Amino acid sequence: MSDRDPDILATAGRTPDRQPLDWHDGDMPYSQKFGDHFYCRTDGRLECGHVFLAGNGLPERWSLGGDFRIGELGFGTGLNFCETWRQWKLFRKPGALLHFMSFELYPMKGDEIGRALSRWPEIEAERKALTAAWPDEPAGRVDLQMDGQTRLTVVCGPAPEGVANAQPGFDAWFLDGFAPSRNPDMWSPELMQAIYGRTVRGGTFGTYAAAGFVRRNLQAAGFTVERRPGFAGKREMLCGRKPEPAE
Ligand SMILES: C[S@@+](CC[C@H](N)C(=O)[O-])C[C@H]1O[C@@H](n2cnc3c(N)ncnc32)[C@H](O)[C@@H]1O
Repeated sequence: MSDRDPDILATAGRTPDRQPLDWHDGDMPYSQKFGDHFYCRTDGRLECGHVFLAGNGLPERWSLGGDFRIGELGFGTGLNFCETWRQWKLFRKPGALLHFMSFELYPMKGDEIGRALSRWPEIEAERKALTAAWPDEPAGRVDLQMDGQTRLTVVCGPAPEGVANAQPGFDAWFLDGFAPSRNPDMWSPELMQAIYGRTVRGGTFGTYAAAGFVRRNLQAAGFTVERRPGFAGKREMLCGRKPEPAE
């Protein structure tokens, strides 16, 4: 079966654990295990635009044309993917391919994804397509060809293991673990180094997190790190890039 086959290629693997959820305000998932929401309660879709897209210079970088690979730590509800896919369809150049690869330890069920994303009419088409394609028992590597120019891969399992096994060549990263104090595995020096090593020169990251140890881990890995105003009144977020050799 080819890389671009439209079928789901859920490879055999361990059956992932499930993460017990509470639901706040009807459709806002909350992780009991990590004691945190999956995104900002003000508006997770707009937060995605501010932190992960603008933080990585998107959609502007897409106007240059060419293929583009995004890595994400924490697929969760797929909100970041759906909003990214929506904007990619608006700004992509003909023939350019987006590969969105996300690393997730506790993949959600399709009905949970549908419930969370139903909050946003703006991504209704993307939600429907994602939940229609999503496997009943996500495990291993879930590979979905969402349209002729968009491929989604969700690597189920611990992110450090998934990233270590990923091929280099990422243009941008969405660092979206739970709050660093509650989910340190997603912000460790080793994981930041593995990410750096798989990022192209001039490649970037964006994250809502601003904790000092996250910034230091990213700097120690080799990224130049910039602080920017966070979303919805949050004081800071971080973004940065992997320097070109001459820099
Ligand atoms: C803030 S949520 C991500 C939200 C998501 N990007 C979205 O659009 O809904 C953090 C995610 O990281 C996942 N996670 C936590 N620890 C992990 C680990 N060690 N490896 C991989 N995923 C992990 C959680 O299960 C959760 O889905």
